[in-house]
Amino acid sequence: MSATKRPQHVAILLDGNGRWAENRRRDRTFGHLKGARVAKTMIETCAREGLTQLTLYAFSTENWLRPKAEVSFLMKLLGRHLRKERASLMKNNIRFSVIGEIHRLPDAVLVEVQRTIEETKNNTGMSLTFALSYGGRQELTEAVREIAREVAAGRLTPDQIDEKTISARLQSSFMPEPDLIIRTSGEYRLSNFMLWQAAYSELYITQTLWPDFTEEELAKALGQFNTRERRFGRTTAQVRQISIADLMRLTSPRQATV
Ligand code: IPE
Ligand code: IPE
Ligand code: MG
Repeated sequence: MSATKRPQHVAILLDGNGRWAENRRRDRTFGHLKGARVAKTMIETCAREGLTQLTLYAFSTENWLRPKAEVSFLMKLLGRHLRKERASLMKNNIRFSVIGEIHRLPDAVLVEVQRTIEETKNNTGMSLTFALSYGGRQELTEAVREIAREVAAGRLTPDQIDEKTISARLQSSFMPEPDLIIRTSGEYRLSNFMLWQAAYSELYITQTLWPDFTEEELAKALGQFNTRERRFGRTTAQVRQISIADLMRLTSPRQATV
């Protein structure tokens, strides 16, 4: 009889486009095309489900190392996808943002990214972030550089540096840390995704390749999240006590003297 816990922030590592196409003896680009259509459906589903934050890891810093033709196809697809989907983002009240080294994107794609951010900036529904040219190590490196600059300028002392100092200087500091990270295609790794922020994220890994990912599978991931006990280092007894105390505070404020 437990209440439904919904993750505030769901992040998806959409993986397996290439293998999906290769299984059909098609070029990898065919998988990326199908993958983009699935991304559209998932974005709309998550918005409809009332999720607060959805992050899609679509292109890593290391993905620049792929063959030129594949990178160029992915960049064109991204630009086209953003241009085409702006109307749907508006219709669904979705606010769009990006994290990553976006200065590395081709100018034509960067224009579409900036237009989409600008047009959707007053939307009040789900926040959608694309991680593009993104790497967790690069994000942390940049935060360390920023902290070093502030120390050098005398605005911060080394003793003042704590976890909040670091979190606040990450490019993704505007969003909560991911509660649930979904990775498709059966790979058990983070591939440089949110290395700092994923400290206590729940992981859901499915063998399904991204182009085959469905609303049912998303519901399964959310359902599994609901059964997880997030202890953050504490014991089960402590966690349950905390929630009973919280519950008492909510239901009968006068008794809540703890
Ligand atoms: C995910 O699919 C999309 C990107 C990383 C751009 P992949 O292209 O990595 O597909 P696989 O993993 O090779 O099958
Ligand atoms: C991870 O996928 C990055 C994205 C989902 C964009 P990759 O396909 O690049 O990861 P590896 O190389 O298998 O770790
Ligand atoms: Mg892959």
